[in-house]
Amino acid sequence: MRTPITVTVTGAAGQIGYALLFRIAAGDMLGGSPVRLRLLEIPQAVAAAEGTAMELADAAFPLLDSVDVFDDADAAFEGANVALLVGARPRTAGMERGDLLAANAGIFGPQGRAIGDHAADDIRVLAVGNPANTNALIAQAHAPDVPAERFTAMTRLDHNRGLAQLAAKLGVGVGRLTRMTVWGNHSSTQVPDPSHLLLDGEPVGFAPEWVADEFVPTVANRGAAIIAARGASSAASAASAAIDHVRDWVLGTREGDWVSVALPSTGLYGVPAGLVSSFPATSAGGEWQVVEGLELSDAVRAGIAASAAELVAERDAVRALGLLP
Ligand code: NAD
Ligand code: LMR
Repeated sequence: MRTPITVTVTGAAGQIGYALLFRIAAGDMLGGSPVRLRLLEIPQAVAAAEGTAMELADAAFPLLDSVDVFDDADAAFEGANVALLVGARPRTAGMERGDLLAANAGIFGPQGRAIGDHAADDIRVLAVGNPANTNALIAQAHAPDVPAERFTAMTRLDHNRGLAQLAAKLGVGVGRLTRMTVWGNHSSTQVPDPSHLLLDGEPVGFAPEWVADEFVPTVANRGAAIIAARGASSAASAASAAIDHVRDWVLGTREGDWVSVALPSTGLYGVPAGLVSSFPATSAGGEWQVVEGLELSDAVRAGIAASAAELVAERDAVRALGLLP
């Protein structure tokens, strides 16, 4: 039996947590390795998380080594190899963006510190809770001894949404498409970019008007459309995207393909260094590598700059609140 991989999931009693935990326990994320789950919740939601732990036991997953529930971040991240930061304060009526940033900085700062102090040396972090990119930046800034590139944020759902729209447009299955790209922030300023898409390995072009007027707005506003239709934000698709992100990071991306990952910029494509922004990337040996040298249209270049400006504003707002070290 292989050594179990320790996975810490925050917000475990939430709706994404409920979809995510069963996929992890079933072995969908880590290629058949046994898994130890450590679930972190706020005290009021610990009972619900315990209920989910009971259901995980009842599912009798052969790869599930153990499940433990915590309301203390230091304990929850002890020995973690993978951390999925899903728990976040959602925006409620009357809250300004700054209020949301402040509330979440109060969560992701201490969790970043706990990761730095207690996680395993090979820790890999995915921030899902919104505002995901800036939350990843805050956590990373509080764990100075962990390599910055181990902190990522999720734009894989946007990537998958893009693939679904393109597959529908072309009348083909998503499995025949590769090299979809999402740049920027996981917000409505994101830049879904199909200009490098391949169908069965061959380039395929789309009318610029369709991309600008239909494709980009549909993908960038899909989260809001799901909320309007379901009365709750996306959950199973978000969980599935988180599984895809970590699986590709740990086990590698498909030959000839790339995926979209928000990670600390090194300055590529004009994104200021340090911002956690989405790029096309491949993974091998457990390391993301941003795809370099892609040709960008003027529209995509301008979109990347606008989304980076939003990330700068988010970072500066958090810094002004004294929440970045
Ligand atoms: P939810 O409200 O159902 O669950 C959130 C859970 O987090 C709750 O159980 C809550 O108790 C817990 N929580 C709050 N503060 C915590 C803390 N300090 N430590 C541990 N747990 C804490 O929300 P959800 O639908 O599961 O969504 C979770 C987050 O993911 C939201 O911020 C949502 O906007 C975001 N999201 C991101 C994407 C993406 O693509 N990046 C997609 C969908 C949703
Ligand atoms: C999503 O993309 O579905 C989530 O980030 C929820 C939202 O607020 O859009």
